[in-house]
Amino acid sequence: MNFDQITDRHHTHSTKWDMMEKLYGVPAEDGISMWVADMDFQAADPVKAELRAMLDHGVLGYYGDDASYRAAIGWWMHTRHSWEVDPEAIFTTPGIVNGVALCIDAYTAPGDGIVLFTPVYHAFARIIRASGREGVECALRNVDGRYQLDIAAWDKQMTGREKMLVLSSPHNPGGRVWSRAELEEIRDFCIRHDLLLISDEIHHDLVFPGTTHTPFALIEGVEDRLIMMSSTTKTFNIAGIHTGNVIIPDARLRAPFAARMAALGIWSNAFGFRLAEAAYSPEGAKWVDALVAYLDGNRKLFDAGVNAIPGVRSMPLESTYLAWVDFSATGMAEAEVNDRVLKRARLAANLGPTFGKGGENFLRFNFATPRAVVEEAVNRLAEAFADLQ
Ligand SMILES: Cc1ncc(COP(=O)(O)O)c(C=O)c1O
Repeated sequence: MNFDQITDRHHTHSTKWDMMEKLYGVPAEDGISMWVADMDFQAADPVKAELRAMLDHGVLGYYGDDASYRAAIGWWMHTRHSWEVDPEAIFTTPGIVNGVALCIDAYTAPGDGIVLFTPVYHAFARIIRASGREGVECALRNVDGRYQLDIAAWDKQMTGREKMLVLSSPHNPGGRVWSRAELEEIRDFCIRHDLLLISDEIHHDLVFPGTTHTPFALIEGVEDRLIMMSSTTKTFNIAGIHTGNVIIPDARLRAPFAARMAALGIWSNAFGFRLAEAAYSPEGAKWVDALVAYLDGNRKLFDAGVNAIPGVRSMPLESTYLAWVDFSATGMAEAEVNDRVLKRARLAANLGPTFGKGGENFLRFNFATPRAVVEEAVNRLAEAFADLQ
């Protein structure tokens, strides 16, 4: 596991690198891609070994009997998150965005309101809109550069038409790991407004030292309205397998979801099942521990660099490898900031407003890349804002 290794990803059909010029105007030849959330690291050895075994066998037919896959999920959640998962509660979908979309389809109707605590992962709003539901943006409070819930304000915002909350826990893009007390407040909010609670915990393994993630399933009193989402894809950098877990603890809640999956003929792919199972192993766990330590180093380097630019503040992250950077105190218009970052520094970063209310004047930078690349990115940013120093 050599996270310093630089692997050229150009011309590999990589969304992150091969779409950068088209989407952001950042030149492919010397731009640095820091947008979409995948990492520039080689996959873990057990994952590669499993893929090699599939290739060596050479027959790539339909996948069946997922008992060992479910057992691997159970083992991971037990050993890493102290959470006992009923194997019957697991549904496998082509990724988590698909899992959330299926929940919207199974449990709500066109015109229903779906609550988001914004700014939040942009795909949620996109699928809510595309399915004819209404996204209800409840803005998080930014208190001294840290997001806080604003339940009293959100209570007033509810109209009775809202049917569901989609929560990002840990939070993308603010990097918050919600505390137990906060999760209890969210539970009470959902009960008060009779909302189904979709807890997308895809970033749950990427938590920095000093903080502990609590799976929502460990919060009492929410079983009958809770749907959990987890996946190996962020943790192990295997987003290309497009396979995720929708975990529904309450047996009665499972039926509508199972019915939609059956009606749409949804089943995941052999690579997804087999590589995910290989990842959830003791060797995989060691790789993740080393990864988190490496990301922690990148986080410190990136934050020290950008925070040295007057008026620029990176939110202190408790989780994720996505730095959420506030440029508002530079006093510059958004277009000027974007021009400096994208054109002058030649860094492709996600634009804040795409994450909804509260994202104005922010950019999101993915620092899950070899340290030398982070160093270069930080130097380019310093240069692009040199007149402020
Ligand atoms: C909060 C969150 N959920 C879901 C996803 C994507 O999940 P998938 O690739 O399984 O659809 C991401 C990717 O960045 C994410 O940040």
